[in-house]
Amino acid sequence: MTKATNITWHASTVSKADRRVQNGHGSAVLWFTGLSGSGKSTIANAVSSELYRQGINEYVLDGDNIRHGLNKDLGFSDHDRTENIRRIGEVAKLFVDSGAIVTTAFISPFRTDRDQVREIFEEGEFIEVFVDCPIEECERRDPKQLYAKARRGEIKDFTGIDSPYEAPEHPEVTVRSDLLTVEQAVEQIFEYLKDKNII
Ligand code: ADX
Repeated sequence: MTKATNITWHASTVSKADRRVQNGHGSAVLWFTGLSGSGKSTIANAVSSELYRQGINEYVLDGDNIRHGLNKDLGFSDHDRTENIRRIGEVAKLFVDSGAIVTTAFISPFRTDRDQVREIFEEGEFIEVFVDCPIEECERRDPKQLYAKARRGEIKDFTGIDSPYEAPEHPEVTVRSDLLTVEQAVEQIFEYLKDKNII
C-alpha cells in the first residue's frame, strides 16, 4: 500500500544502462538465503571482496548490520521479517540501479517474500543464492550461540527451531556450504556471473 498521495515518479537523467556502460560490467543482486549459521554473510563478503579486487562496484547488505539501523524498528515476528525483506529488496534495487553488484545476506525464510522481491527486478537481475547447509551442521557451528539459546527457550521464533525456513524451489545458484570451502563457493558464484555476462 502507498500512503502518500500527490507524488510523481521522476526518471533520472543518467540511467542504469548508462552506468553499466561506464562501469564496464552489469549490475544485479546476489540474494543469499539460508539458515542462521549457514555461511551467508561469510560467502557474501568473500564474493564482494573478490569483486572489489577485480575493480567491480559492489556492496554488501547484511542482516545483523541493517537491523542496527534502517530496520532497527523490526523484530522477528513473521510480519516484521516480511517487512525487513521488503525494505531490503527496495534498497537492493537502488543499488542495482546505481550499477553495482549488491550481495544481501538475510535469512529471508519465507518463499513468498523472496518471490515478491524478485518481482520488482528486471529479468536476470535477481539471483537467488541458496546457502544450503543442514540445520544439524548450523547448530554444531552455532557461531553466535543462538541455537543454544533457542533450545533453552531464551529466544522465541528462532528460524529452524520454532519458526519455519522455506528453502527455495528454483534458486539460480545452490551453494552446499557444508561441502565446499568459502573459496569454492565464491568460484561457483563467479562462474554464474560470468556465464550470464554480468561480469
Ligand atoms: S530475517 O528472517 O528477517 O531474514 P535476518 O537475516 O534479518 O532475518 O536476521 C537474522 C539474524 O538475526 C541471525 O543471523 C541472528 O544473528 C539474529 N537473530 C536474532 N533473533 C533471531 C531469531 N529469532 N531468528 C533468526 N535469527 C535471529
